[in-house]
Amino acid sequence: MPENILIAIAWPYANADIHVGNITGSHLPGDIVARYHRLKGNRVLMVSGTDSHGTPVTLRADAENKSVEDVYKGFHNSFIELFKGYGITYDLFTTTHTENHFKVSQAIFLALKENGFLYTQKSMQWYSPTAGKFLPDRYVEGTCYICQSEGARSDQCDHCGNVLEPEKLINPKAKTGDGSLELRETEHFYIDLSKLEPDVVEFLRARKDHMRETVIGESLGKIESEGLKPRPITRDLDWGIPVPVEGWQGKCLYVWFEAVIGYLSASVEWGQVSGLPDAWRDWWNNPDARAFYFIGKDNIFFHTSLWPAELMGVGAQFMKIFTGKEAELTLPYDVPANQFMNLEKQKISGSRNWAVWGNDALTRYDADALRYYLTVNMPEMKDSDWDWAEFVARNNNELVANWGNLANRVLSFCHKNWEGHIPDVDPASLREVDRELLKTIEEGFNTVGALLDGVKLRAALSEAMKLATTVNQYLDLTAPWKQVKIDKDEAAKTVYTALKAIDSLKIIFAPILPHTSSRLHDFFGYKTPLFGEQYVEDIEDNLGSHTGLRYKGINEPQWKPSQLQPGAPFNQPEPLFKKLDESLVEEERTRLGN
Ligand code: MF3
Ligand code: ZN
Repeated sequence: MPENILIAIAWPYANADIHVGNITGSHLPGDIVARYHRLKGNRVLMVSGTDSHGTPVTLRADAENKSVEDVYKGFHNSFIELFKGYGITYDLFTTTHTENHFKVSQAIFLALKENGFLYTQKSMQWYSPTAGKFLPDRYVEGTCYICQSEGARSDQCDHCGNVLEPEKLINPKAKTGDGSLELRETEHFYIDLSKLEPDVVEFLRARKDHMRETVIGESLGKIESEGLKPRPITRDLDWGIPVPVEGWQGKCLYVWFEAVIGYLSASVEWGQVSGLPDAWRDWWNNPDARAFYFIGKDNIFFHTSLWPAELMGVGAQFMKIFTGKEAELTLPYDVPANQFMNLEKQKISGSRNWAVWGNDALTRYDADALRYYLTVNMPEMKDSDWDWAEFVARNNNELVANWGNLANRVLSFCHKNWEGHIPDVDPASLREVDRELLKTIEEGFNTVGALLDGVKLRAALSEAMKLATTVNQYLDLTAPWKQVKIDKDEAAKTVYTALKAIDSLKIIFAPILPHTSSRLHDFFGYKTPLFGEQYVEDIEDNLGSHTGLRYKGINEPQWKPSQLQPGAPFNQPEPLFKKLDESLVEEERTRLGN
């Protein structure tokens, strides 16, 4: 039975371009796992979108003197371009600024309210008399009252990582220069997380055996030391989702409260645009579906505590409001949060241009070369570092030398010596050494598959590379290039075996290196492609149309050893990867910080 796999990836804020740290942090690992499950024949739904609301986006619009719509759409379109370029295959990449997302978010809010998890409370918030409005979250910066560092945002301190109570900030200043600030009373809705704490703890403990220690440890540790406290989930802002309660005009749902709901609303929207309006329920009303959330470590609390609390708090009530039928919603199965990727030993910083920007890197390097380096260096358990010298070295010494050359050498040699055909060998005539190689590669489908399933992507890649090394060793031993001159029939067995191994490795590498595996697949002459196609679609919505990135898949399980037939014709191969020149290391380094 095919499994239902939800791949949920953090929604990027529409206030900055995507850099390599974001790609390796969430989009790429999510795509690798999605592609693996598609090859296995499982039913994958991979969703995300642009996080278009909240103060990160309105501040950017203020700074650029543009409308918020223009700002979020600009980033949204550049995100889509990037995902197409890297082959990040979202079934739907949408935005939070859709009527559908508003409706789903408001229904979640109302379900929580009906179930008694929301209450209202008055509090003091920063207000600018000059601007004539409240300045929530990132609008106010000052000194952190916990770690004393400067430049803390009123809702969060990046230095100590704590979520802050705005009114306690020391020396608050309006980010927009809106004069001096005063505290004024306002009223907000709060989600009573303390009531849901036992459920969240139980939810986390039940996942101890398959969730990363870094994620479980941090989540449970925080709850054990501080407990889950009520949090305000509305704001005095006009850009966002209106609070669906009489008399609350002019206030919006807090951006984090609604952005996490995007995983659910995007699934609903995917069903609508695919002409399968109920299909999302196969993932969301199905306790056997496995939902993986790919995020960076700064998002852990929101995905291991807030979102599960929202889901458990609504119980069956959301479905009752939204569809008329009661049903519970699927909880996260795993939240494989990654640590951070630094750049040349320093923290990536967009404002200082200390970054490798995703779209820019694609103008000079191939997507699979970048995907390779971002996977060997994925910050799964600790922070990692993008180093340009290492990028060149690993590309040349590993990707090109160990895998690319292996494929190119054997295919070219065979194409030339067997006139464009796979040697017509009787598989029963293979020697012990040939059988052993094929057995080793066949086992790779299980070992690498288990690692991909468990989201251990660095280990999966290293295992796949070891298999390529094994094929290289086999060729060193059997030396078909010499053998062909002495005994062509014996050489045929070697070349046939090596081609079968390479054809299998093509599949094993495919989730990580989809573009080059697809090319190899074409050289071998397969008719059914390995993967489907990405395309862009204009989606009509009552809030205005938006661009959606979509994916149309191939319904055929392909995660299995080579199907190549002896004697079959195949196409003239070309090299899969490019060797990179050392000189680019200096060139790239001078780009940084300027
Ligand atoms: N926009 C947030 C960030 O860039 C991530 C939101 S993830 C979501 O950090 F689930 F809330 F959407
Ligand atoms: Zn701090």
